[in-house]
Amino acid sequence: MILVTGGAGYIGSHAVLALLQDGHDVLVLDNLCNSSSKSLERVALIAGRAAHFVEGDIRDRGLLDALFRQWPITAVMHFAGLKAVGESVQDPLRYYETNVAGSITLCQAMADAGIFELVFSSSATVYGESVKVPISEQCTTGIPTNPYGQSKLMAENVLKALAHSDQRWSIALLRYFNPIGAHESGLIGEDPDGIPNNLLPYMLQVAVGRRPHLSVYGIDYPTRDGSGIRDYIHVMDLAEGHLRALQRLSATSGVSIWNLGTGQGYSVLEMLRAFEGVVGRKLPVRFAPRRSGDIAQCWADPSKARQELGWKATRDLKVMLEDAWRWQRMNPHGYQGAPEKDSAAA
Ligand code: NAD
Ligand code: WQD
Repeated sequence: MILVTGGAGYIGSHAVLALLQDGHDVLVLDNLCNSSSKSLERVALIAGRAAHFVEGDIRDRGLLDALFRQWPITAVMHFAGLKAVGESVQDPLRYYETNVAGSITLCQAMADAGIFELVFSSSATVYGESVKVPISEQCTTGIPTNPYGQSKLMAENVLKALAHSDQRWSIALLRYFNPIGAHESGLIGEDPDGIPNNLLPYMLQVAVGRRPHLSVYGIDYPTRDGSGIRDYIHVMDLAEGHLRALQRLSATSGVSIWNLGTGQGYSVLEMLRAFEGVVGRKLPVRFAPRRSGDIAQCWADPSKARQELGWKATRDLKVMLEDAWRWQRMNPHGYQGAPEKDSAAA
């Protein structure tokens, strides 16, 4: 059985689905601070069987001990965490407490229970403003410009030291680039609370009329069209990367770092044009100054994951945008309310 912390969230719910479809039994621990357990009901609909779910906090050591006693857990996928960059600037202690101290509590409980296989959700943000693209795992980590990014780098460093101290640990640090998209069913997807921080969730809400216009943050970057370039990756490709990493953990020890990206960068303006193509109409747009802390460009060298895990992202940008748009149309208000039929699907 695999314990999935944060399994009700955006990426976690897609990983739970991939695990169930791969034949694993799954226990989800999530405090639902940024998600709904409806995601797991929908996962069960798609998979034809359910994950077990416990509502609770990764910082609750007593609860973790009880779960490790009660369930035959052999490995942990650790998604639980806080991820809003701006909020982390306003409330850094909450971010460090959840993302760093929460990860430490989890590892302490795992060690005491004799469980040493861990897949950790890291982020390309740990590279900071890398001078060189594509970014390989050998690039030095940078200084993330915000407490969220710092907390991910700190958690990585804690996990590296832990694996170094005790050879029983086998830990995967998966550095995600920009996850977007949704499962092809349109039943699960990203459901941001409040105003979306990220590009595609914002565009989706403009397209369904929940926001008046998209702001393009910066058209004066030293890129091919002046807007920021990122490596967007389909969330199901990401989920499948987790399965490969998990398989690999049982055969290795120490820390392994893998970039999960496509290797292909798209600018904000290219994303906008491609999304307008999928939606079939223009979106209202305004050009705005650069967003503080943003970097000009960032895309992965994903060859290490290809060589060592046999994993490669297979879904292209059109599929990412079509799947995201299906999710948004079927669930214009996220998990609130029953999913609507996808009228454009036929
Ligand atoms: P999400 O907010 O949708 O999922 C995180 C889940 O963790 C939520 O369900 C939330 O309720 C839960 N959670 C938060 N604090 C908890 C706690 N103390 N105890 C138990 N559960 C808790 O976010 P996501 O996009 O699915 O991200 C998952 C992980 O991937 C995070 O660790 C995030 O930092 C990392 N990550 C995300 C991105 C991205 O762009 N989405 C990129 C790189 C890395
Ligand atoms: C992408 C591009 C924006 C919104 C963030 C976190 C990172 C990681 C992934 C967790 C940039 C531009 C955006 C908008 C815009 N998360 N943009 N208008 O900043 O690459 O990464 O999410 O680990 O840590 O920082 O992603 O989607 O916010 O932005 O023009 O309304 O879109 O300036 O160029 P980002 P993003």
